[in-house]
Amino acid sequence: MILLGIETSCDETGAAVVEKKNGGLQILSNEVASSLSLHAQTGGIIPEAAAREQLRYILPIIEKAIEKTSWEKIDGIAVTYGPGLIGSLLVGVETAKTLSYVLKKPIIPVNHLYGHIYANWLSEESRIMNKELRNKKLDAKRLTLAAEIEFPALALVVSGGHTDLVMMQSHETLEVIGGTRDDAAGEAFDKIGRLLGMSYPAGAEIANRGEKGDPKAFQLPRPMIGSDDFDFSFSGLKTAALTATKNAKEWDEKTLSDFCASVQWSIVDVLVKKTIKAAKFYNVKSILLGGGVAANQMLREQMQLNARRYELDATTFVPRKELCTDNAAMIAAAGFFTKPASWQEVTANPELYY
Ligand code: KG4
Ligand code: ZN
Repeated sequence: MILLGIETSCDETGAAVVEKKNGGLQILSNEVASSLSLHAQTGGIIPEAAAREQLRYILPIIEKAIEKTSWEKIDGIAVTYGPGLIGSLLVGVETAKTLSYVLKKPIIPVNHLYGHIYANWLSEESRIMNKELRNKKLDAKRLTLAAEIEFPALALVVSGGHTDLVMMQSHETLEVIGGTRDDAAGEAFDKIGRLLGMSYPAGAEIANRGEKGDPKAFQLPRPMIGSDDFDFSFSGLKTAALTATKNAKEWDEKTLSDFCASVQWSIVDVLVKKTIKAAKFYNVKSILLGGGVAANQMLREQMQLNARRYELDATTFVPRKELCTDNAAMIAAAGFFTKPASWQEVTANPELYY
């Protein structure tokens, strides 16, 4: 079975073709066009500008994704219908509906957040993850199967708009057990980056800058790290960063690196501690990371390290970095586990949750 995935929830226009084969999901093509450089100039996303760019890219990107396959081989069209920016979502949804109607192919409305979780099911990614992170020795053949992920699974979705802990008892049973009370983890990176004069989004730049810095140089708060729920809060960190960066213009390279390392460490520390606590509480078999912040190397390593340190009987999965940030392969992946709809039923929903 082969699905075309379409992703236009924000500033990335994505189209991908994914095949289900031998129990695993394989990416045949995965194309992304981004209007990021445009938004970097304005210091953030202007929704109307993002929607216009989506319109510009959508057809060429779909054509490029389909190039190596053919329309006859496509069994369905999975499209992000929310959450996201309404103008951007509409471009993908209306395109997918038109294709579904004209080509008589089923349409599968996919929740973007599920997409971030299902990036973990792309079998090539499981294999990479296993090499990178898994502590058990596994039979080489089994590593190619996406079915490696065992339930119950705990997913940490960390993106520009979300910081959610989601329990999955099965593909059909999802429960949000925690989330952020204010800013999302990616939002914290982006807002603090802005204080430092970095362009949007700033997560990767803070991580790069922080690589050589001392994560203990600045004492930054870790709000709610010890609270007895599974919620997060990052606005206190942002306020502390505002005070700490008052003289940032006079900082030398070393101080800037130290500050970036400290910011990264305080965000990662909270994310890891809360996830491990939840994984233990629910006795999960798998921990899944997803969303743009899951591209963060420190988060990837610390999650794995701590799962071992606390002797969890769980395997940590994390998609390849370019599959953590927004892309259409993850939407196609989620499409294999989502019910198709008739094209008349599909509408963009910017406020969609789980
Ligand atoms: O999932 P995503 O591409 O878009 C949303 O659905 O929001 O996530 C984007 C977020 C941004 O806040 C960005 O700063 C953050 O992911 N991000 C990172 C890294 N790469 C992207 N944060 C920390 N470290 C990174 N390496
Ligand atoms: Zn996303």
